[in-house]
Amino acid sequence: MTSVANGIRVAIDGPSGSGKSSVSKKVAAHLGIGYLDTGAMYRALTWYCLDRGIDLDDLGVVADAVTAMPLEMGTDPSAPSISMGGTRIDADIRTTRIAEVVSKVATNLQVRPKLQQRQRELMAQIAADQGGVVAEGRDITTVVAPDADVRILMVASEAARLARRSKELHGGADDAAIAATRTQIVDRDKADSTVSSFMSAADGVVTLDTSDLTFQQSVEAVLTLVERARG
Ligand code: DC
Repeated sequence: MTSVANGIRVAIDGPSGSGKSSVSKKVAAHLGIGYLDTGAMYRALTWYCLDRGIDLDDLGVVADAVTAMPLEMGTDPSAPSISMGGTRIDADIRTTRIAEVVSKVATNLQVRPKLQQRQRELMAQIAADQGGVVAEGRDITTVVAPDADVRILMVASEAARLARRSKELHGGADDAAIAATRTQIVDRDKADSTVSSFMSAADGVVTLDTSDLTFQQSVEAVLTLVERARG
């Protein structure tokens, strides 16, 4: 396959808590190729707009910020980084303040085609420079790179997703933590799924259910699909 010769492109979509971020990073590190977190790009744009005092409801101005923002994505899967104009903003984009409003930016239909185009270009560049790329998000298998060599929709039961995210966000999975997580991730996924279809797999996309898989088993399942694509 010519595309594989130019660097394999692996696309992984899925809802919050499906395991796609940690698995994508591990797979990319194992294969010695680059990693692109497209959700971080929506978060970075949100951070940039808030930093500049841009009203997130001002759809056109937010879309203009996609080209104006000096975003740099560090694509080493063992140490991915996000910088804006030379300043690291990795921690700033993971705050509750950003998580609460990022859907507004992600559902802005003037923003999406611009960020998607930037993601397409980044994927091609990373694949060429680093021998391949694992890109994760919500619409990579369907819109950003429907021609990727490996396309996976990573899913997990709501209970499994809530338990995983609750441990990450609140350090436990008791009733109160689960309830707080539900508002944070289930409601956000619901809003996000109005603009991208990541709850069911598109034609040609392999569904990987990680509900009952360990982290290592999920990584191995993805690696098997990559080996198959490499022929
Ligand atoms: O995966 P995450 O939580 O970092 O994603 C942040 C937001 O961006 C979330 O609202 C989903 C949205 N997103 C998207 O719409 N398309 C993508 N390719 C990646 C993320």
